[in-house]
Parts: sequence; C-alpha cells; structure tokens
Amino acid sequence: MSSSQESYLNPNPNQPRHVGIIMDGNGRWAKLRGKRRIFGHEAGVLKARELVETAVKIELEALTLYAFSSENWSRPKKEVSGLMRLFEKTIEKYTSLLINNNVRFKAVGDPSKLPRILKRKLEQMESITSQNTGLILTLAIAYGGQQEIVSGIKRLIEDHESQIIDANEITVESFKKYLLFQDLPDLDLMIRTSGETRISNFMLWQSAYSEIHFTETLWPNFEEQEFLEILQTYSQSERRFGNVEEDIELKKA
Ligand code: IPE
Ligand code: IPE
Ligand code: MG
Repeated sequence: MSSSQESYLNPNPNQPRHVGIIMDGNGRWAKLRGKRRIFGHEAGVLKARELVETAVKIELEALTLYAFSSENWSRPKKEVSGLMRLFEKTIEKYTSLLINNNVRFKAVGDPSKLPRILKRKLEQMESITSQNTGLILTLAIAYGGQQEIVSGIKRLIEDHESQIIDANEITVESFKKYLLFQDLPDLDLMIRTSGETRISNFMLWQSAYSEIHFTETLWPNFEEQEFLEILQTYSQSERRFGNVEEDIELKKA
C-alpha cells in the first residue's frame, strides 16, 4: 500500500485544521508549453479540483484557496475577463461534486467588481451547500488581506459610534467578528507554489501563527503526494505560539 493510501485510511490526528493555498504559477506553466496564460489557469482549476478531493478524503476541516487577489484586477483586461469566465464555468461544473462530497462552500473577498452572474453563482453555491457538514471550502476571490482588515475597522468604527462596542472591549478576539473567515480556526498551514517566497496579501490576520511552506512546484504540477508530504511535515512541527518548548511539554503531561 502506498503511503498516500495509508493517509486516506488514517487521517493524521496532528494534521492541520485549516490549510490555505496560494495557487501560483499557472502563467509560467503555460508559457513553458508555449501556450496562453489562460491555458495555465484551466490546468490550475483541474488541480484545485484534485486537491479538494484529497482534502475530503483525509477529512481536513477547512481548505482555503486563493484564486484571485485584489491586486489581480490590474492584470490585462483579457486575462481578467478570461479568469472571470473560467470561475463562472468552474462553479457550474463542480456544484454536484461539492454536494456529493458534503462540502460547505464559501466565497470571501470584495464582490463589488465581480461580474453579476459570477456573484450570483457564488451565492447560489454557498446556499446550496450551506447545510453540508464536511470540508469547509473557502474560495478567496477578489480578496486582499489588507482590504479585509480595513473594511473590518470601518465596521468596528460604525459599531463604536452606535455604542454597540466600547473601546475597552476591542481585543484580538472581539475584532475577529469584523473580519472574514470568522467561523473558521486561524490558518494552521499556508502553502505557496511556484517558488515565490511572499504572501501577496493572503490572510494576513489569520496567518499570524501559520506554518508557511513554499514549494518550487508550479501550481498545475502540484501533486497529491507533495500535499500529503507537506501535511506530514506539518504534523511533526512543534508550534510554540511564543511559549517555550519545556512549558508546552509540561502542559501536555
Ligand atoms: C496564479 O497564477 C493564478 C492567479 C493569480 C489568478 P499566475 O497567473 O500568477 O501565474 P504566474 O505567477 O504568472 O506563473
Ligand atoms: C497571488 O499570486 C494571488 C493568487 C495566487 C490568486 P500573484 O501571482 O498575483 O502574486 P504576485 O504578483 O507574484 O505577488
Ligand atoms: Mg503569479
């Protein structure tokens, strides 16, 4: 039996609860093949589908996929419209896959600039899957971590002005309710493909204590085996959250 099959049978008790992936490298993957960038994005979608199936099999609690950043609006018009169409087709095509796998879907980001039809499809997908109890799949689309924090602060100020919240009640915990991803645990593990070693505005608040794994693999080449190996490495890491190792051992004992 291969080690990946073993992992399916025995979900690792130390596996992360919430994994986020910066799916990068589609354009370079296409260029290497002498194809247009959109060809790489299409391959990227197939890869995302594969990884969602793996996440379901290993009983991961939450998977967040970074599909389109706030900054990606500045790409050439043709690429942006190609991506929007691709997202739309993808949502349509994979609705039954998500239903059959008991996946709860959510989209996060600023929907104001998304095409109306895509916005509607994302909302439909959220509502159709809202009662599912398995993997929580979040698609970060038109999403930026800085924008998320700023719009949270705006809403906090409104609540403060309406005397819903007092200044001394503002804490790391209470501020969370002004952010996205509020029903989810913070990000345990962030993965970025394609060899870039930056976060590119992804989940800035929720990644405060994430393990971060950078891999050279371009997203369309990212295999399940590599994903399982990264999870394995994660499960062996000691997360200290600012504490010291000895005290963590004492508390465990
Ligand atoms: C990631 O791949 C997908 C999106 C940002 C939409 P890229 O399109 O950034 O691919 P590279 O980085 O140019 O190879
Ligand atoms: C980050 O990739 C955004 C997504 C993967 C959706 P980019 O390719 O846009 O990031 P930069 O420009 O390399 O930082
Ligand atoms: Mg890129």
